[in-house]
Amino acid sequence: MKQETKQEWKDSAIAALDKAYVPYSHFPVGACLVTKSGKTYQGINIENASFGLTNCAERTAFFKAVSEGESEFAHLVVAGHTPEPISPCGACRQVMAEFCSPEMPVTLLGDNGVEKQMTVRELLPYAFTEEDL
Ligand code: THU
Repeated sequence: MKQETKQEWKDSAIAALDKAYVPYSHFPVGACLVTKSGKTYQGINIENASFGLTNCAERTAFFKAVSEGESEFAHLVVAGHTPEPISPCGACRQVMAEFCSPEMPVTLLGDNGVEKQMTVRELLPYAFTEEDL
């Protein structure tokens, strides 16, 4: 993957931060999910007055893409206004494990250019998947 391309995905996740619907937490999260064909889907967290209905940025990106017929993913970037690279929640890690290979790279971003490179397996070791059913 070209460095310019990865920068575009990072820029997309960071740009999504401004669209997050976060009137309760004021904690925006942005995501950019990349398909193997190179298409990108942005995701944002979308909160609700009934707090438990909140959908995280990562899951928004996956649900947008999967509902458009996508099933092959190559990369995920997640961005937060955090001092350390943002840490995806457990529910989003489980959704990553559902739709991505364990080796798929996930780039985690915070403020001031901090970045952490991980894989889906590193984020959720010993995941429960369809093979366990
Ligand atoms: N949030 C995400 O969007 N992704 C994560 O992985 C962590 C948490 C959102 C949910 C909620 O809107 C806000 O961050 C605070 O929990």
